[in-house]
Amino acid sequence: MKAVTWQGKKDMRVEEVPDPVLKEPDDAIIKVTSTGLCGSDLHLYNILGPFMTPGDVVGHEPMGVVEEVGSGVSNLSVGDRVVIPFNVCCGHCWMCDQGLFSQCETTQNHEYGTGASFFGYSKLYGQIPGGQAEYLRVPFANFLPIKVPEGPIDDRFLFLSDVLPTSWQAVEYAAVPDGGTLLVVGLGPIGEMCARIAMHKGLRVIGVDLVPERLSRSQSRGVEVLDLKAVGNVGDAVRDMTDGRGADSVIDAVGMEAHGSPIAAIGQTMVGLLPKSVSVPMMQKAGVDRMAALYSAIDAVRRGGTISIIGVYGGQSDPLPLLTLFDKQVQIRLGQANVKRWVDDIMPLLTDDSDPLGVEQFATHRLPLAEAPAAYKNFQDKTEGTFKVVFQP
Ligand SMILES: NC(=O)c1ccc[n+]([C@@H]2O[C@H](COP(=O)([O-])OP(=O)(O)OC[C@H]3O[C@@H](n4cnc5c(N)ncnc54)[C@H](O)[C@@H]3O)[C@@H](O)[C@H]2O)c1
Ligand SMILES: [Zn+2]
Ligand SMILES: [Zn+2]
Repeated sequence: MKAVTWQGKKDMRVEEVPDPVLKEPDDAIIKVTSTGLCGSDLHLYNILGPFMTPGDVVGHEPMGVVEEVGSGVSNLSVGDRVVIPFNVCCGHCWMCDQGLFSQCETTQNHEYGTGASFFGYSKLYGQIPGGQAEYLRVPFANFLPIKVPEGPIDDRFLFLSDVLPTSWQAVEYAAVPDGGTLLVVGLGPIGEMCARIAMHKGLRVIGVDLVPERLSRSQSRGVEVLDLKAVGNVGDAVRDMTDGRGADSVIDAVGMEAHGSPIAAIGQTMVGLLPKSVSVPMMQKAGVDRMAALYSAIDAVRRGGTISIIGVYGGQSDPLPLLTLFDKQVQIRLGQANVKRWVDDIMPLLTDDSDPLGVEQFATHRLPLAEAPAAYKNFQDKTEGTFKVVFQP
């Protein structure tokens, strides 16, 4: 089959790889019909090379049709239409029982001290072949796949794999008080979906980014937008809009590759050039994140407010202004999304034909897999109006 494979820094290639096969009795194989390209894939593309092996199949936002099931699969049938969550989780361990699916104890990665495995996401997360491919092996098939109805186009349900539950969790964790104001830092796919969900819940949303098309997309849906390049200091601009206090809650939807952190950017580049024996321990121990977005969040949140970090960070000793965090009495919640935890909350908004979250108009590009190398580059560079790419293998 054809699949998008990591070959080196900024080098994704579509290659012919062996078809996946059933390995365990509760495995299923799905034929992928749509599969998203995510900001998290850009971290593999750009920074997390030390944890990748050339040939790794990437992608973690797939949906499709069940092609084959193992002998132990009883509640999924060939032909079912399914979305596959990015967390590879068993559904019956202690963590899964708490709804902490991204911490599943059956798939935690002890060698790297990390949580549950993810599809297509480096040795840190199990090196499981990913979903930007024609076919995907799905473990725990009695639990993991989300069955979705026939009828609407794939995009109605596709974002249940990651964008929707991730953004839903970010808004939940932000704990915005009734009538409160949420600041969303970063208006990529995740930040914009956070804003859509928060507005659906009736909250006031301010959003900040630096890409003009992204600002106007969010503005057209009712977000009060701030252009990072124009405002200078985000905290001051937000205080001006909130009686001098700051936002009740802030979501950091940027993560480790924030614009405006020149020293860390040089560090990330240097780590990427080192041999793996040196770069892997450096990535795990050193502070290598670009922190500009998180610093904006810490400055712009009001005293006693909440920061919800959904952007991915990877450094172990990043400098944090603890004095400010302590003095302002800030609460912080963060982590990978527990996808299945939120599906029942989100599904009614997707089966509603009025499409309240606008998911059918969310993607900007629907492309064949063969165009993946250019799509990665355009998404990284934010060129060609690239916002959310969906591959249709
Ligand atoms: N926690 C999870 O489970 C989870 C799941 C999916 C994605 N993510 C993470 O969410 C983040 C966003 O993902 P995405 O798909 O929206 O990617 P993206 O890269 O398209 O979005 C990031 C946005 O932040 C903007 N930005 C950069 N620096 C900024 C700054 N200093 N201030 C304000 N805006 C800035 C960029 O212009 C861009 O629009 C990534 O870190 C991704 O890895 C986390
Ligand atoms: Zn994703
Ligand atoms: Zn589990």
